[in-house]
This record gives sequence, structure tokens and C-alpha cells, in this order.
Amino acid sequence: MDGNGRWAQQRGMSRIAGHQEGVESVRDTVEACGQLGVKYLTLYAFSTENWKRPEEEVSLLMRLLLRAIRDETDRLYRNNVRMQAIGDIDRLPGEVRNELLEGIQKTKENNGLTLVLALSYSGRWDLVQAVRRITRDVADGSIDHANVCEDLIGSYLSTAAMPDPDLLIRTSGEFRISNFLLWQLAYSEMVITEKYWPSFRRGDLYDAIRDYQRRERRFGLVSEQVKRTGNGKGFMRRLFGRVAGSEE
Ligand code: IPE
Ligand code: MG
Repeated sequence: MDGNGRWAQQRGMSRIAGHQEGVESVRDTVEACGQLGVKYLTLYAFSTENWKRPEEEVSLLMRLLLRAIRDETDRLYRNNVRMQAIGDIDRLPGEVRNELLEGIQKTKENNGLTLVLALSYSGRWDLVQAVRRITRDVADGSIDHANVCEDLIGSYLSTAAMPDPDLLIRTSGEFRISNFLLWQLAYSEMVITEKYWPSFRRGDLYDAIRDYQRRERRFGLVSEQVKRTGNGKGFMRRLFGRVAGSEE
């Protein structure tokens, strides 16, 4: 979710006003994903590097986050959304962490959309914490170093119980990953939109899904091989057809 500051600047407003409007985009996108039958939506809300922003902006962002979780948890609960978080949650102010943990606890039995908030998250942070735990388990003998494989590494990442993303949407026209899910994005499709996050609404989500649907995911294979299996494309097609009617 990028471009909150620029959205505000364009309108002569403070950066925090951009973040505030960004919360509206979150609400709309989460609701649309729930209605479409998306199983997982991960929002990159605050990165490890974002801690280095001016103190005032960090503290305003934390207050906004606290309020958003407080205000939205009931609605998420009613909409059958399950809230989860990835990242170095212990770095969050106590109040924010408690509100977050309460929201996770309250919605844990829901089985619609899983909304994953990436907070104080970075892909390198995730890899470091995984390597630390893997090396500890190798050292104490609970795993053999010869058994370290892709699946094992995946199971030590904070996303252990989640599928790899099919689609990565980045707003504000920047062509970079910015330390998001480095391992998990290996074969994700990317859609980059010029829109700043506060202007991103469900129509833009549908556009991104349509773009995704036109692609062929080969996972290193040749076209003839994947035509036989479909590789998840059919799922995204069905899912989009459910709300907006098939465009293709
Ligand atoms: C994204 O918008 C929100 C967060 C990183 C919390 P930015 O704050 O990065 O907005 P720009 O990039 O300055 O426009
Ligand atoms: Mg930015």
C-alpha cells in the first residue's frame, strides 16, 4: 500500500491525512476480497524500515493503526474475516499489540477471508528469524541439516500456514518489492498501478484481477505443459466471475 504521502501532498494536505484516507481503501478492498471469495489478503501496512521515519509520523501511524483495529474488528468478525499478523509484533507499542492480539483472538474461528496484516515486517527480517530458529533446531538435534529443504524453510517463516501469494499488487507506480515477502513471492504475478493507495478502490482490484487472468503462469515450465493443468488460473477466473460477471 504505497503513495499515501504523495496523495496528500497533491491535495495540499498533511501526510497523515493520506494515511487516514488509506484506511478507507483498506476497508473497501477487504470487503471486496471477502465478497469475491479470496482466501488470503496480506496488506503490507508497516515495514521494518518504516520505523526510521520521523518520530511524529510513526506515532501518528501507530495511533491510526490502533483506532483502525479498534473500529474495524467487529465488522471483520461479522463478515467472517479471520485476522492474522506477520512481523516483529513485539516492537509495536503495547496498546497496539494488545488490540491486534485481541482482534486475532476474537476472529480466529472465522473461515472466510484471512486478512494478514504485515506490521513491522520485512522479508529479510522473516528470513533472519527463520534461519535463527532453524540453526537452533539443528544445533539441538531436533532437525537434521540434511533435511533442510524448501518446505522446511517455508515452515519456519512467519507465513508458514499460508499459501504463497498468487498476485502482488503495488500502488503508486513504483517497480520494486521493498523488502516484502521475498521468499514467498518467487512465482507471484505482479500488477503495478499508478494509483496512489488512498485512491485505490475495489474497481482497481477488479482491474488487477482481470490483468492477472490474462496471464499464463508457467512456473518454469513450457506453455503446453501448463495448458493441461491450468495452474490456478481457473480459480481466479471463477472467483472474479462471482461478483462482477465474467469479462472474458
Ligand atoms: C504508504 O504510503 C503507507 C506506509 C508506508 C505506512 P507512504 O507513506 O509510503 O506514501 P509516499 O510513498 O510517501 O507517497
Ligand atoms: Mg512510500
